[in-house]
Amino acid sequence: MYLSVQFPAALAAQRSFCDGPEQPLGASRDLYCIELVRAVGIRSASGRVELGRAPGPFTVDVTADGHLRYTAAVTLSGLARPSSLGRFTSYVAWVASPTMGVVRRLGVVDNGRTVLPAIALDKFVILISAEQSGAAQEMSGRLVLRGMSPSTRLQPPDFMQFALGAVPPDSGEHAHHAQAGGDSLRWTMVPMPPGLSMLPAEMTLRPNVEPYLPHASTGATVPIVQPRQLVRLSSGDTLRLTAGIVRRPFKGDTLTMFAFNGQQPGPLLQVAQGAEVIVELTNSLDQPTTVHWHGIRLENAFDGVPDLTQRPVAPGERFTYRLRFPDAGIYWYHPHVREDIQQDLGLYGNLMVRSPRPDYFSPAYREEVLMLDDLLVGDDGLVPFGKEETTHALMGRFGNVMLVNGEPRYSLSVANGEVVRFFLTNVSNTRTFNLSFPGARMKVVGSDVGNYEREEWVESVVISPAERYIVHVRFDRTGDVALVNRIRGLDHLFGRFFQEADTLGVVRVNGRAPTPNLATSFNRLRTDTAVRADIARYRKHMTRPADKALVLTMEARDLPFFTRQIMQLDSIFFTPVEWSGTMPGMNWAATGDQVRWILRDPATGKENMDIDWSFRRGDVVKVRLLNERRSFHGMQHPIHFHGQRFLVLAVNDVANTNLVWKDTVLLPAGASADILLDLSNPGRWMVHCHIAEHLSAHMMMAFTVQ
Ligand code: C2O
Ligand code: CU
Repeated sequence: MYLSVQFPAALAAQRSFCDGPEQPLGASRDLYCIELVRAVGIRSASGRVELGRAPGPFTVDVTADGHLRYTAAVTLSGLARPSSLGRFTSYVAWVASPTMGVVRRLGVVDNGRTVLPAIALDKFVILISAEQSGAAQEMSGRLVLRGMSPSTRLQPPDFMQFALGAVPPDSGEHAHHAQAGGDSLRWTMVPMPPGLSMLPAEMTLRPNVEPYLPHASTGATVPIVQPRQLVRLSSGDTLRLTAGIVRRPFKGDTLTMFAFNGQQPGPLLQVAQGAEVIVELTNSLDQPTTVHWHGIRLENAFDGVPDLTQRPVAPGERFTYRLRFPDAGIYWYHPHVREDIQQDLGLYGNLMVRSPRPDYFSPAYREEVLMLDDLLVGDDGLVPFGKEETTHALMGRFGNVMLVNGEPRYSLSVANGEVVRFFLTNVSNTRTFNLSFPGARMKVVGSDVGNYEREEWVESVVISPAERYIVHVRFDRTGDVALVNRIRGLDHLFGRFFQEADTLGVVRVNGRAPTPNLATSFNRLRTDTAVRADIARYRKHMTRPADKALVLTMEARDLPFFTRQIMQLDSIFFTPVEWSGTMPGMNWAATGDQVRWILRDPATGKENMDIDWSFRRGDVVKVRLLNERRSFHGMQHPIHFHGQRFLVLAVNDVANTNLVWKDTVLLPAGASADILLDLSNPGRWMVHCHIAEHLSAHMMMAFTVQ
């Protein structure tokens, strides 16, 4: 159990979305509010708990070990004087495990709103009791109100087993594995994540599309993949970039994959802010492609979106991109055709845009540029992709091998006391990581499009597909420090959460402290006055009501009866973030023609590419995003706007106090977010979910800036 005792006092004043009449585009009360129930014999009290969040650098508040952290605010009314119930003086709030095995004090409460310390438990019960003393450390008085967290609605295992005949985990009855080799590619079964259960009926599901894996044409010599190289480009330079096929040795096997210039990740391009360069793309793949320069406010014609800004580049053809870089920071490039296949097979690279300001970052000894990915590999190599349509259209294709810069085991050696600047980019199809270096302190300094207003200490970095975070980490003890992804998975069939921890790499810390010692500058949280001044120009737009809204939802057609049945049971609760690939069979077999993910404009009812927003250059527009809980399958979506930048002003009505320019925002299930879009760049641009399979399943729209 984790209970922190700090909370921002400013939250106490605020009104909760849990109270009053339900707002049409408010966050889900069903997932983020608890209605308190009166205990036997209590006549008049009532109340509600808002499972809120503390303002923070990420849209999801989570501990380093992966527990979601709620800043609970309780609103009570009708409480009689404590003395009217017996020899009591105060009301006290408690949090307990569902079986009441552990009970922790939250604090004194009364009629009105009280913000309580953060709660970080999978499932819990909130209790309000009348106590003899407000200082009571144990619940010994009279119970007045109680309520259960939404997650407690998940079905207990014996019920599900009874109802559906599930095979419990580790019964050894699902030893099937993917098999995809030779010329006759066929579907078999997806690899099972360890410890998860699968129903017999689930094991018979297959995607209704042809399997696809790349293979080299006969006689062709396919190069072995090479590590990434740094390429420095100056204004006027031309880079030749070839998307092609490579062989990749993998655990005694050889995988056929894709790469830019034979490298995974693709070349790391470094340019000065304000530079202009040319990239000549050659397509040597077996399918059409394009390159999108993610996050860069470049000229629309070179944004790389097929049929919107350019024709797809056919195999053997070329396309010339002219790029300009108005903003410093870390960006990336990837194809914009069947990302679920092309990006997953290795077509991704970083772009580093250097600021002319010598003090743009506070000091660090070295920089590491990490691209985080996961790959889905079975006993016989890569699990095939869907040829005509994407597979994994429900939750996206989670991999089972974690990769840093294309390799399963990242390592780095540093001297004791070093400060390292890490540039992190999540290039996975769907996985959101919760990364930390246990034992080393970390602060976040930047994100998608530049620096935060001020540096901030973090326990971990929550990074969804396409997002970037820049962190400084100080290693001040000799020995090994692991880079880990620690999350709570949800076994939907058995209604239980489980711990998942993956080691992505290791940092070896050796003796000999470097000079100068950066401890002082590291310990200080610097404010970036230039960023703050830039953002200040937008303050006047921040407080008005939203100008536009988008609802994120989905529709399913023709899913197998079994899948529909399970998903209906499952919809009793949606976890804010699906961190892990649970429901593997159902998810795998669901294809892009059975599932339609939707962006809906509630003002017009229009959906996806029928939405046609039009703005003028210089407009500043506030958009409310709502991830609809009542959707058939609710989960998080990283929403990306092309060609512009935005600020994430608030999540679930909690205002952020430390802003940064972004191009991608992660919306947890049932959550709302307000963003302020700076429409600075003319053209016709895309908005879409950056889960590759959701994009393939239609979750996109376009808007025009004149
Ligand atoms: Cu990286 Cu359209 O996105
Ligand atoms: Cu999505």
